Amino acid sequence: MTDNQTLTVRDNRTGEEYELPIVDGTVRAADFGKIGKGEDTPGLAVYDPGFLNTASTRSAVTFIDGDKGILEYRGYPIEQLAENSTFLEVAYLLIHGELPTQEQHEKWVHEITFHTFVHENLKSQLQGFRYDAHPMGMLLSSVGALSTFYPEARNIHDPKVRHDQVVRLIAKMPTLGAWSFRHAQGKPYVYPDNDLSYTENFLSMLFKMSEQKYNPDPRLAKALEVLFILHADHEQNCSTNAVRAVGSSQVDPYSAVSSGVAALYGPLHGGANEAVLKMLKRIGTPDKIPAFIEGVKKGDEKLMGFGHRVYKNFDPRATIIKKAVDDVFEVTGVNPLLEIAQELERIALEDEYFISRKLYPNVDFYSGLIYEALKFPPEMFTVLFAIPRTAGWLAQWLELVDDKEQKIARPKQIYTGDRQLEFVPAAKRWS
Ligand SMILES: CC(C)(COP(=O)(O)OP(=O)(O)OC[C@H]1O[C@@H](n2cnc3c(N)ncnc32)[C@H](O)[C@@H]1OP(=O)(O)O)[C@@H](O)C(=O)NCCC(=O)NCCS
Repeated sequence: MTDNQTLTVRDNRTGEEYELPIVDGTVRAADFGKIGKGEDTPGLAVYDPGFLNTASTRSAVTFIDGDKGILEYRGYPIEQLAENSTFLEVAYLLIHGELPTQEQHEKWVHEITFHTFVHENLKSQLQGFRYDAHPMGMLLSSVGALSTFYPEARNIHDPKVRHDQVVRLIAKMPTLGAWSFRHAQGKPYVYPDNDLSYTENFLSMLFKMSEQKYNPDPRLAKALEVLFILHADHEQNCSTNAVRAVGSSQVDPYSAVSSGVAALYGPLHGGANEAVLKMLKRIGTPDKIPAFIEGVKKGDEKLMGFGHRVYKNFDPRATIIKKAVDDVFEVTGVNPLLEIAQELERIALEDEYFISRKLYPNVDFYSGLIYEALKFPPEMFTVLFAIPRTAGWLAQWLELVDDKEQKIARPKQIYTGDRQLEFVPAAKRWS
């Protein structure tokens, strides 16, 4: 790397040269705006649908190196967090930027635990949904509705107000998610149990029936804890970008987070693990795997749960999930689909087609199997993603609010429509 951290651009339309600074491996799109800018001509813009090569922010929350298979929250490797931490400690880390002291941790856990209840009117709102309402639709609207219960939340420049809403959101998401699940089953909603840990309480709200107290299996609570840690943040993905874009209008965090839930609802973002399950069920028995793989190689279909836009060697989250699979199946009994998944993975990892394209199992390859073993219907899988991701969305939202460089998100366009048409009134056009 030389000291010449600049880019020289020659505009062949005019012959003019421009020297643009390069900072942190990026050039400012606004600097391109100076190129070719005249009194009547706009400057050069960059065109990047889907933001494939555009950095929208500086961020100190999550680091990913896709080629090396590295994922770190606030500098801590995901493997160490999944092995040794809890979801609430990780949420604290994401939100505050550093690990808590014992005192900070106790206060944080207490705060979250004692904000798990939601207003009874919100319960009535949930009860108003049709019996077959998709739980993500219910979650999306109930998170948005929270803003009406806490109108002070719009005061986003007050750090105390911000903190209160962060606590409320992380605390109430499992309640809203669990109640959406119970609704679909026609079962009564279960109130939070403040004696239980975050994931134990979630399991209680999901599965408690007539017993006085629900005692979740600690292995299941731990597996869910690991899954929650793995899904807590993933830098500037589609839903985080949605939270930031909506949050840039300075709306309250409930509205911003509901836009994140909406983005996650889409099949290209949160739906892949469900597609893996469908694929495994369709294959049915291990002897059908070779024919299936041949079909994939011919381009008939994709091997769902393989490949990733960012991770090109392995997805570090997939390695951790594989361990959690064993723990869960120890409790629930082995799902016959696991055998097919393992055999598929073994064959694909030895096959030149997958090796040459750097296709490895991603986080979704095994998470659907765990969720199914825990008796979640596929519609719930994305809810299980949205609950922990709320911590990441909020960490990113807090960063946005404090970032002096951020402005309201407002991309440019290349206009391709007509101009200056003459309007003919309907009576004339139709006569
Ligand atoms: C995740 C995904 C969208 C990444 O896509 P991408 O980075 O744009 O990769 P590309 O589509 O450019 O794929 C590169 C090559 O690998 C192939 N490929 C990618 N994923 C594949 C898969 N799961 N099965 C079979 N072939 C695959 C592509 O067909 C392409 O082959 P080609 O070079 O012969 O045309 C893609 O791998 C995929 O669709 N995976 C399955 C869905 C999934 O599990 N999604 C969850 C992601 S967390």
